[in-house]
Amino acid sequence: MAEELHIKGESREEVYKSLIPQLKALIDGEDDFVANCANMAAALRQALGFFWVGFYFVKNQEELVLGPFQGDIACTRIKIGKGVCGQSWEKSETIIVDNVDEFPGHIACSSASKSEIVVPIIKAQTVIGVLDVDSDELSDFSNIDKIYLEQIALVISDMIKS
Ligand code: SME
Repeated sequence: MAEELHIKGESREEVYKSLIPQLKALIDGEDDFVANCANMAAALRQALGFFWVGFYFVKNQEELVLGPFQGDIACTRIKIGKGVCGQSWEKSETIIVDNVDEFPGHIACSSASKSEIVVPIIKAQTVIGVLDVDSDELSDFSNIDKIYLEQIALVISDMIKS
């Protein structure tokens, strides 16, 4: 396992490109899912300076339950269709929110969070969880984040044996 991250690049896209192979190296040879998700949340936050990065996983097909994360404490359970996370799960698609105060039903875990992106983690056509990233700046996420965070969601889904 790599002991530390070596992030190169000025733009966010360059940072993602530098980060993703290191994320793969970080989990290589380690089969503990929770440990790997915890390190991936930490690496993403460390490399990109996001306010909050974490996972919610589907439990009993009923609700999302908080998984490994980096940042302030967060709400523990989210029902399908509720908040940005529950909608991403229900629709099975990435949702970018430029201003969380304008998103109907947004679940505010911290008043410092201003914008958000939620990416579903899909295994065998089924959403098994979501990757949630919050920023303390408005409109902080774009299609670049969607492209690379979806690649990271795929790395997570690939960790789960079919
Ligand atoms: N804002 C999310 C809840 C999770 S926190 O941001 C960590 C939502 O509306 O689903």
